[in-house]
Amino acid sequence: MTDHDFIAGLPKAELHLHIEGSLEPELMFALAARNGVAIPFASVEEVRAAYSFSRLQDFLDIYYKGADVLRTEADFHDLAVAYFDRAAADGVVHAEIMFDPQTHTARGVNFDTVIAGLLSGMAAAEATHGLTSRLILSFLRHLDEADAFATLEMARPWLDRITAVGLDSSELGHPPEKFARVFAAAHALGLRRVAHAGEEGPPGYVYQALDLLGVDRLDHGNRSLEDPALVARLARTGMTLTVCPLSNLKLCVVGDMADHPIDRMLREGLRATINSDDPAYFGGYVADNYRAAAAARGLDRRDLAMLARNSFLGSFLPDDVVATHLAALDAYVAAH
Ligand code: ADE
Ligand code: ZN
Repeated sequence: MTDHDFIAGLPKAELHLHIEGSLEPELMFALAARNGVAIPFASVEEVRAAYSFSRLQDFLDIYYKGADVLRTEADFHDLAVAYFDRAAADGVVHAEIMFDPQTHTARGVNFDTVIAGLLSGMAAAEATHGLTSRLILSFLRHLDEADAFATLEMARPWLDRITAVGLDSSELGHPPEKFARVFAAAHALGLRRVAHAGEEGPPGYVYQALDLLGVDRLDHGNRSLEDPALVARLARTGMTLTVCPLSNLKLCVVGDMADHPIDRMLREGLRATINSDDPAYFGGYVADNYRAAAAARGLDRRDLAMLARNSFLGSFLPDDVVATHLAALDAYVAAH
């Protein structure tokens, strides 16, 4: 079996995926037509050609524009189903997906419309592929604390269907401390906590995510490597890092995939995982991310299995379900 196929078949969880970032240009055009929404592109090719970024903000500007075609519950259902179909083909058996309610409520699309569509897509994926999933409500950090609190309020009727809160969007200038009280309120409601930190922001933002937000998992975390004491702490506490190699390349977090630190993270004892972030924008789904990192950094099958193992250990699944997934992973590795 080739490494390509080994990676596709490797049972894995995806822990860092923005569902709005899985909107492929083809679906963008279909939804634009269905909803009578004008988009500033003439063709699918023109959209793809626009996906050239030199930093996070370049991407975010186009990502929020693309999301404008999402209007109805059916749109969110179709978006989710399209992602889960691709993920299942990549060996994903469990996904913890982020959604950005404020991107939609700011345009007049109801919170309930968004979440109902996503939940029905999640149920369809479980029925079709046996792929389980959880929802992470992510706050936009470029907006203020009051807006995040208002969003948490909208989530109240749905709390039993939401696993965690997250923090995304423009990192620089919007440190985690801005949302300490919102995260405390979310925790009090029984929600788990994740946050993007150390993607573009300094190690100090990672400390804030740990100490002021109380995160259970760190999204990206790359710049933690600049601080040996922080690396030691993350390793000692078994903190999961949801690393996204193709995203890092496209957003110039690394200059070249050959310089990606994924193997260094494993060597330093960090619980690193591989994820796709915004696959429609960054050129690949989760298996493509495993392959790109493996090819550039010489990861062997033991490393790949470790990354998949970490993805289950870092998930919010109950221990007995994690154990079942790890047993299936071990059986797969032993057979290959
Ligand atoms: N929103 C979607 N993808 C993101 C990323 N990689 N960083 C911050 N915000 C995001
Ligand atoms: Zn992200």
